[in-house]
Amino acid sequence: MFLSFVVFAILWMPVTVQSVKKRSFLAKPSWDDRISNIEFVAEHQAPSRCTCAAMCDINCGCFGFNSLVEKCRIHRSCDLVNMTSTENGWRYYLINPPPDCQGVMKSGETTSGLYVIDPLGGRQRLVTVYCDMEIDNGGWTKYEDFSIGDESTNYTLHLGGPNTGNLGDSIINPGLSDANLNGMSFSTVDRDNDRWNSGNCAALYKGGWWFNEFHFAFLNGPWPPENWTIPWYPTILSVSNITEVRMMIKPA
Ligand SMILES: *[C@@H]1O[C@H](CO)[C@@H](O)[C@H](O)[C@H]1NC(C)=O
Ligand SMILES: *[C@@H]1O[C@H](CO)[C@@H](O)[C@H](O)[C@H]1NC(C)=O
Ligand SMILES: *[C@@H]1O[C@H](CO)[C@@H](O)[C@H](O)[C@H]1NC(C)=O
Ligand SMILES: *[C@@H]1O[C@H](CO)[C@@H](O)[C@H](O)[C@H]1NC(C)=O
Repeated sequence: MFLSFVVFAILWMPVTVQSVKKRSFLAKPSWDDRISNIEFVAEHQAPSRCTCAAMCDINCGCFGFNSLVEKCRIHRSCDLVNMTSTENGWRYYLINPPPDCQGVMKSGETTSGLYVIDPLGGRQRLVTVYCDMEIDNGGWTKYEDFSIGDESTNYTLHLGGPNTGNLGDSIINPGLSDANLNGMSFSTVDRDNDRWNSGNCAALYKGGWWFNEFHFAFLNGPWPPENWTIPWYPTILSVSNITEVRMMIKPA
């Protein structure tokens, strides 16, 4: 794993029937006899609340069960303000999604894919993210203490130490002080925020990145990679050895 970003994407995914492992749910009796139509995924026949709960998989944030008609409604999320329809017999249950991909993994999921997580807690903002569950068999470097400044800093890169992994550190201590990328602003082809006085690294190297006057790490080179220069010196000398790079974040 290199450093770090998660791409957030809210996508619809079909719900497959599988059991809810180690996930608790909370009944909302005060919502009784209402139904929600927001973030509605599916409606199934279900003989019991228990069967219905089992249909609410990791991508389901809440479900409604109606014992009168033995029906189960699966949703990504539910909110009382959006439960504007009324229908007798419904009771809704909220699932507690894990806070991060590690929590998804602990809940028993073993395949990479899109999962609903609750990063802020308290269901303030449920998001669907891609969680990589596979052991990384490529090269990786992990940096601690990652953050990015806001727009007023031009998205300054901040990485703390130490770093671990099998590719070594090409960002903070690259062995050439004007290639240290820690603390650099982000440059793009039309925003020259690097420290190179006679040109724009992002234009020259064909990709937005945190450049100093030079770089020994550059994970955003062009593809096909024939013009991708110095992806991760000195451990990766040839871009022909790269099939994919990923930047991911996880809580410390
Ligand atoms: C739920 O209702 C609120 C308040 O009416 C509205 O702002 C929000 O967009 C609704 N959510 C969805 C997903 O429709
Ligand atoms: C941010 O980038 C813009 C455009 O390159 C530049 O004019 C401005 O001075 C930069 N601000 C900082 C704080 O580096
Ligand atoms: C690589 O750069 C050269 C010189 O700018 C250019 O002619 C060539 O088309 C580029 N290759 C690709 C795949 O973009
Ligand atoms: C890089 O790729 C070349 C062939 O494209 C191969 O000969 C070489 O062993 C690879 N190096 C590494 C470190 O995998």
